[in-house]
Amino acid sequence: MDIAIMGYGVVGSGVAEVIAINGEKVAAKCGQPSVDVKYILDLRDFPGDVNEKKIIKDFNVILNDKDVKVVVETMGGQHPAFEFVSSCLKAGKSVVTSNKELVAAKGDVLFKLAKENNVNFMFEASVGGGIPVLRPIDRCLAANQIDEVAGILNGTTNFILTMMIYNSMSFEDALKLAQDNGYAEKDPTADIEGFDACRKICILASLCFGKHVFPDSVYTEGITKITLEDVEYARAWGGVIKLLGRAKRLEGDKISAMVSPAFVKNESILSGVNDVFNAILVRGNAVGDVCFYGRGAGKMATASAVVADVIDCINYIDNRKAMGWDDAVENYVVDHSDVETSFYIRAKGDKVFALKAAEEIFGDISILNRNNAPEDEFAFVTPVAKEGILAEKLAKLADVEILSKIRVENY
Ligand code: HSE
Repeated sequence: MDIAIMGYGVVGSGVAEVIAINGEKVAAKCGQPSVDVKYILDLRDFPGDVNEKKIIKDFNVILNDKDVKVVVETMGGQHPAFEFVSSCLKAGKSVVTSNKELVAAKGDVLFKLAKENNVNFMFEASVGGGIPVLRPIDRCLAANQIDEVAGILNGTTNFILTMMIYNSMSFEDALKLAQDNGYAEKDPTADIEGFDACRKICILASLCFGKHVFPDSVYTEGITKITLEDVEYARAWGGVIKLLGRAKRLEGDKISAMVSPAFVKNESILSGVNDVFNAILVRGNAVGDVCFYGRGAGKMATASAVVADVIDCINYIDNRKAMGWDDAVENYVVDHSDVETSFYIRAKGDKVFALKAAEEIFGDISILNRNNAPEDEFAFVTPVAKEGILAEKLAKLADVEILSKIRVENY
């Protein structure tokens, strides 16, 4: 069986490598004499590369080759990935992608195209890299109503936060180390501003709750404002700061969905997920909590999930194996001001006066302390209420400068 790979970057080259090293096993799993990478589409040249002879620059070569029935898309970005994937599906070729940006933005359209053309569109690697999570949610938890999904969905930011928490490294130094280690992109905006995690929670929420969730409907906050002072206050509170993507089923066929840093208790399974690892916690009404943990990024880990999808595509070539969700509906994701949470607040001002005022405004606050804090710094955790109400109350706290505001979550 011949396949093609579009995009010979980190993941694409990993796919070729996994097929090279595990070829016999891969072929046996789908009842083929062999599974061969016939073409690799990339605009760059790769002189001396083991797959140099397979590199092509014209997409039409893949599109017009009737023998290529499964195509892997590891180009990333929306364009031209969307056009190429659409053309492959229309031409009767199944597609496997690791591209979360594509699935989060265009999944609904691509599922329909796959259905119309009786082919498969698979995307296990788009969330959690090598962690089996989408298929287990869809198949193994099929008997459940999923009520909530939350996770550490970005390896780069988890590495940065781990360095801040355990090595007292500043955000800037930890980011530099992540870049030196090859975890963060040269332009790490999508990681540190939470956009990457947002795409992943959109895919998870769409799959868990059944309707497409677009990234622009999900409130997203990154980790750039987290300081070592906040890390210390989190420790005093009995927890750590994690970048969480989370979504929850609400009454009236609505959901909440959000990406932001959050205080997480040391007792939570998510607090022990460190370095570049990811974890996804799924709450089902029959099974209870299930947690998926593993390498959320990286060449071979992500390629492992892609190649498993290739095997499935080959096995189900004449007998579609659909996974997907319905179209988006308006006002399905509630505004974050209507979501219940509590906030950790760090501020500057007259400590005694301000904490007394905070107690009067919020009610039962928990005051936090850290060693060597400046005289005019104070921190506390509010009771649980809707975000909008907490924001109104915070605005009433006069004569203080708010330095940090981080959500406190209970997973
Ligand atoms: N930049 C992403 C991360 C890669 O750090 O998790 C995997 O999606």
